[in-house]
Amino acid sequence: MEITVSDDISADFLSLVQCILDNAEFKKLNRYRQHYQTTRLMHSLNVSYLSWYIAQKFGWDASVAARAGLLHDFCVYDFRDKLPKGQIQAFYHPRVAAKTSEEYFALHEKERQAILSHMFPLGPLPKSREAWVISCIDKFCAFAEFCRLNVALSRKNRVQFSYA
Ligand SMILES: [Fe+2]
Ligand SMILES: [Fe+2]
Repeated sequence: MEITVSDDISADFLSLVQCILDNAEFKKLNRYRQHYQTTRLMHSLNVSYLSWYIAQKFGWDASVAARAGLLHDFCVYDFRDKLPKGQIQAFYHPRVAAKTSEEYFALHEKERQAILSHMFPLGPLPKSREAWVISCIDKFCAFAEFCRLNVALSRKNRVQFSYA
């Protein structure tokens, strides 16, 4: 599967996330539904893009916002699957996402912390401005997806998925 984005998406943003978007394991997120109509891949792209946009506007670490935003739900399983005994999805999946991200990418500690805290207040307190942005944007995107509102990259076919 190839992921292409429209020309109006910032090249700066793409340069930060391209190696993740090219990863075959990461692309599997397109298999999973998230918040009704959206795929986990599209949700992750939106969280990444909006977090990056805010971070670069304020002069914060846009790379951490883009990368951790993209990886925050990097879990290659259906959220409806049975979990290990005693685990609760809201607390469990950020730990899986951090572990999977570490397996496939050179993850900075700040990125790992942002992934782990994205479900706050269900889970740890965000420790950086970028982690706070990702946690808030994740909730905003989930709300938009539940309401079937197309925001950011899900608008106007800005992202296309093609199968060779
Ligand atoms: Fe999540
Ligand atoms: Fe999410």
